[in-house]
Amino acid sequence: MDNLAQEVISCTKCKLCKSRTHAVPGEGNVHTDIIFVGEAPGENEDKKGIPFCGASGNFLEKMLESINMKRGEVYITNIVKCRPPGNRDPEEEEIESCKEYLERQIDFIKPKVICTLGRYSLHYFYPEFIISKVHGKIYNYKDTIKLIPLYHPAVGLYRDSMKKVLLDDFKIIKEVISQNSTTQQEKKIPSSSKQEEFDLSS
Ligand code: URA
Ligand code: SF4
Repeated sequence: MDNLAQEVISCTKCKLCKSRTHAVPGEGNVHTDIIFVGEAPGENEDKKGIPFCGASGNFLEKMLESINMKRGEVYITNIVKCRPPGNRDPEEEEIESCKEYLERQIDFIKPKVICTLGRYSLHYFYPEFIISKVHGKIYNYKDTIKLIPLYHPAVGLYRDSMKKVLLDDFKIIKEVISQNSTTQQEKKIPSSSKQEEFDLSS
């Protein structure tokens, strides 16, 4: 992973390398079960080279605390590793150039759960999904990886109703993680959770 971070820091595969201050490879525990994948670095992240280190990051940490988890226990990264100027949406060719890094991070960490943060991250994995319909549900992304689409923490910052939705969706993460750590026979997700099985990995 250190090699990968070095490659990202010196990467010039797309035009975002020209406007960035710092590339933001990702941060956290590489032995984790959970990866959070945001959209792209913003202004704070570009200044510091650390993902989710501004207001959205604070809220992400609060949501993790609400399920008794710390930021240092998970891995946090983005679909594109360099800030798009003015926080514009990442372009298709930028996502395409950068995807190798995310794929390698997933292969290396082998998470049990990928939590997408926001629409762009969701659409990278499932282009046809509509976030308002799928957030907080559990999908079988690959044989050993569940994917939970979440709203971007930024939408919870200024709207209390969305904050509540996000906090509720976070409870599902806890449920999935505790399912994963139970014995083989107990591994079925209880009917109380909103599981939908869409295996699109093939
Ligand atoms: N928003 C994102 O999607 N990613 C970050 O790292 C920060 C804000
Ligand atoms: Fe390289 Fe990704 Fe940065 Fe583009 S966004 S320069 S592909 S690291």
